[in-house]
Amino acid sequence: MADKKTISPAELKRRLDEMKVEFLFDLRNEDEFKAWRIEGREDFPVLNIPQIDFVGEEDRYIDQFPKDKEINAVCAHGDSSRYSAELLTEKGFNAVSLEDGMDLWSEYYEIHKVSDSPLIYQMYRTARGCMSHIVVSGGEVFVIDPNRHVEKIIGFANSIGAKITHVIDSHLHADHISGGIDLAQKTGAQYFMNPIDADGATFTFVELRDGIEIKISDNNFFAIQTPGHTPGITSLLLNGKYLFTGDTIMKTDMGRPDLGGKAEEWAGMLYNTLFKKLKSLGDDIIILPSHADSIKEQDKSGIVSLTLGESRRKSKLFSLTDYKEFINYIISSLPENPESYQEMRKANLGLISPDEAKKKELEIGKNLCVMKKPEQA
Ligand SMILES: [Fe+2]
Repeated sequence: MADKKTISPAELKRRLDEMKVEFLFDLRNEDEFKAWRIEGREDFPVLNIPQIDFVGEEDRYIDQFPKDKEINAVCAHGDSSRYSAELLTEKGFNAVSLEDGMDLWSEYYEIHKVSDSPLIYQMYRTARGCMSHIVVSGGEVFVIDPNRHVEKIIGFANSIGAKITHVIDSHLHADHISGGIDLAQKTGAQYFMNPIDADGATFTFVELRDGIEIKISDNNFFAIQTPGHTPGITSLLLNGKYLFTGDTIMKTDMGRPDLGGKAEEWAGMLYNTLFKKLKSLGDDIIILPSHADSIKEQDKSGIVSLTLGESRRKSKLFSLTDYKEFINYIISSLPENPESYQEMRKANLGLISPDEAKKKELEIGKNLCVMKKPEQA
């Protein structure tokens, strides 16, 4: 239970949403801090002093802390930040500590209702920008790209009195450990994946092939293979209105096509997807992606979505209709490809079985699934 000098992840998120975080004090080491940190809808001052340097030497750094702002202290597990917040409080500062640190923050989720009919919820893993979608119809639940903390999805389904019957991974994820197989096994749901991405997998699955239709109650999902981010990535068109794109199209950009080590080939696939495969879909299609780059993409209701028309108008890649220009832009824009991503691909194929500590370690860091503009790369 959080005391008054400790704030929960939910409270921190509320403050971030209300732009009330005034000052962040991060006590993790420099590498961890550079890899990922808490970001808001607006930027705020951030001070990184590793705990090993700060504790016992507080007075050396004291001038760097504001007297007139609340200091939000954070560390990896919550101990150093609580101790340091107490130290700062004793010295007359207003400081609070994030409960259980980045450990708990990385497991914080929020669920927002996207639509009443069909009934769609978006589940947002705040720290990593991963989103799962939950569609409910006739007491059945269809889950797209479930996160690995599957008890949260099962708990939600139970809370609305519905049964999870269909679980889909839109593609072979590289940036996080999927909960797909685990969720299907725990609930008895059918598990779907495109066979190209599931090549070599140790588990059984229902083939999510281009053009198949899946009906639950009066809702119809139409599978559209949209290669690029991966060769087998498959979007789902719900009732001709909502398009669950996985990482093909995201709010600010597209999913990067190089995580399999074949950037040029997969970039070519993405070109065909954007300009040929999706050509017949109207601008009013509502896209629900599986990743966001930051909480800045959430609207006031907490939902991350856009229309296909918005993407066509605003996305750099949609403006590059010349094939060569499109490929060259991608090749010059690729961010780093972390080693951990290859391990997570293996874990998501069932080829390795990391324990909980290893899963946490693999998932450390900012989500790098999205393309970056050349100036950011
Ligand atoms: Fe992905």
